[in-house]
Amino acid sequence: MTAISRPEQLALQAHDEENCNTSGNPSLNDIIDARMSRRGIFKAAFGTAGTAVLSTVSLAACGGGDDTPAPVPAVPDPRATRLGFTAVAKNKLDAVTVAAGYTATVIYALGDPLAASTPAYKNDGTDTDFDNRAGDHHDGMEYFPLNAGGTARDVNGNERGLLVMNHEALTDQFLHAGGVSARPRPAAESDKEVPAHGVSVVEVRKSAAGRFEYQQSSGFNRRITPLTPMQINGAARGNALMKTRYSATGTDCRGTINNCGTGYTPWGTFLTGEENWAGYFTRAATDDAARGGPTASSVISLNRNGRAQGAASRHGWETSGTDDKYARWNISQTALDASGDYRNELNTFGYMVEVDPYDKNVAIRKRTTLGRFAHESGVFGKVNAGKPLAVYMGDDSRGEYIYKFVSSANWSEADAAPANRITTGDKYLDSGKLYVARFSADGTGQWIELSMANGALAAATNYKFADNGDVAMNSRLAGDAVGATRMDRPEWCAVNPVNGEIYYTLTNNANRKLEPAGAPSAQQGLDAANPRSYLDAPTATTAAQNVNGHILRMRELNSEPAATAFTWDVYLFGAQADADPSLVNLSSLSTDQDFSSPDGLWFSPKTGLCFIQTDDGAYTDVTNCMMLIGRPGQVGDGTTPTLSYTKADGSKVEVKTRVGAKPTADTLRRFLVGPVDCEITGCTETPDGKAVFINIQHPGESISKANVADPAKYLSHWPANAGYGAGGASTARPRSATIVVTKNDGGLIGS
Ligand code: FEO
Ligand code: CA
Ligand code: CA
Ligand code: CA
Repeated sequence: MTAISRPEQLALQAHDEENCNTSGNPSLNDIIDARMSRRGIFKAAFGTAGTAVLSTVSLAACGGGDDTPAPVPAVPDPRATRLGFTAVAKNKLDAVTVAAGYTATVIYALGDPLAASTPAYKNDGTDTDFDNRAGDHHDGMEYFPLNAGGTARDVNGNERGLLVMNHEALTDQFLHAGGVSARPRPAAESDKEVPAHGVSVVEVRKSAAGRFEYQQSSGFNRRITPLTPMQINGAARGNALMKTRYSATGTDCRGTINNCGTGYTPWGTFLTGEENWAGYFTRAATDDAARGGPTASSVISLNRNGRAQGAASRHGWETSGTDDKYARWNISQTALDASGDYRNELNTFGYMVEVDPYDKNVAIRKRTTLGRFAHESGVFGKVNAGKPLAVYMGDDSRGEYIYKFVSSANWSEADAAPANRITTGDKYLDSGKLYVARFSADGTGQWIELSMANGALAAATNYKFADNGDVAMNSRLAGDAVGATRMDRPEWCAVNPVNGEIYYTLTNNANRKLEPAGAPSAQQGLDAANPRSYLDAPTATTAAQNVNGHILRMRELNSEPAATAFTWDVYLFGAQADADPSLVNLSSLSTDQDFSSPDGLWFSPKTGLCFIQTDDGAYTDVTNCMMLIGRPGQVGDGTTPTLSYTKADGSKVEVKTRVGAKPTADTLRRFLVGPVDCEITGCTETPDGKAVFINIQHPGESISKANVADPAKYLSHWPANAGYGAGGASTARPRSATIVVTKNDGGLIGS
């Protein structure tokens, strides 16, 4: 099997990738190079000829020695002893293929009406009113249970509930009858594209036949869009850097965008992560000078967050007219002060945002204390009465960081069912500490506090932080200043309910190189936690190239979510089954288990099983994206292999890493394969674990304007070809959609 038969597929991933970290931060490669230099001295001294060999890379300077977490005894999982389904083979069908004995049913797709008066979706590019329809690119999703009468939250609500999901981005060609028009963009097109982003709240309910269906007329239904008024809370509320023409006080803002991963709070609200928000905005080619030149703080911040002057906006909405709803996408500095323009508009995006799905009347909060970056999910660590809460988060961009927020308030069990959910969020999420992770080669790591109380930030030379609001808004610059570890694009995280360990998908990293160009540079060298090279693996065979990503896991010191030290290993390395086991298929994946680019990640609270979703860039010649189900062990249950690489000059570099116990046929299997050109995203379940909802994102998204008129050129016709919605099985435009998966015997999913 060829690992990359469609290099253009990698280019297609570009919309999912940002690349802003040009800091010179750890990169164990620097240490490798330093030691190689010393090795060069050894060579001279001892007359070693030919190659230089570096033994285990160690990062003594990064600590770990004194804080080595105590081992935690193995916790047997009483709920899931083995996987109870037959693995699904990789395939390229334009369908959802689920394990035998299970049924997948489409229940909510792009454009579906969310009000009684909204007409059915014609799916021909003429539909309007996306404020009252399902948005595009279904992504992260959580289920909020309702009581039988549909009047209130009921944590045991298995028959009806609210699905709350993100609509990350667009397959914009299919939103319009003849594809996307050139700039200046027609206002009518922008007015569809903007509200097709954001969040849906939609009621789902079991029919008399026992099948979930979405409820078009439910009073809970709601769209939250990039124009919905919101409130800024936490460290950056009212900050001078938050003032805009919309809010001269810096306390309010409009909308949320590029929402990716999610979170479910212990008090019953929804968290949505704003991911690749910067690209929607533009600023003039002369804007740096207007702001005081390249060393001005705002220019440093904009560049670090992906908005260089003159870069075009993703959709060109700012070209649709002079109305404020279009003007706000141009963030050039033009007025005398910040209340007269949108120079600070970008600072109002990039947060974890809290929504109470049960209550339309309370203000949505941007929780700025949890930091600003390309947020994925926000997942709570184990909740313990009388202890702080931890929220784990990742920044999905090449070479970006892993973060944790720890609340100031200690958890009170009374808050599990509070009278006021959103003010309970104020209590736990507006005050606390933000940390960034640094991984050491010895299998330990540290959480480093990002606040003015950390002397490294007060003394930072890369950026002058004004206050803690500034630190929260510029988390990436703060991470740079304290030497955080640059990771292989942290996508979603999830917490194992059995033992509290934290899992992160690291989807891949086109900038991870054996020999990164320059230093500091946009590229990263190899390190123990990110030990595989992308594309240029030195053995130079296709099979040794790694574009497949891995899943990292961490255990807090003494299993305390508020700990500042942890241990780690790699649960799984993505790989093709027939790849080199010494450099690529380090987890010995079989053909029933192999996968690429892990992305979505979720643990079932009911079964304790781990659901892995992929956003594949390398297996597209042999399979569509997939979902696997795993039953993982724990940090430290595997081995510590050493990867041996050969540089272009023939010298060798060895990187010791940590890989979890190799999965068996009973502990990891492919459960589902999606339709053509899709990504598998959000995953959630009813409280009884008998219905799992899964999002299928952007089937058939690879379509040019030239081909919109010719259905024969569409890559996918799903879900119409599965009997859902308007359009013929061989002519319909594809749609992102939610499916529900049930076991035919009514049992738990996967076990
Ligand atoms: Fe929206 Fe990084 O995935
Ligand atoms: Ca995506
Ligand atoms: Ca993703
Ligand atoms: Ca992805």
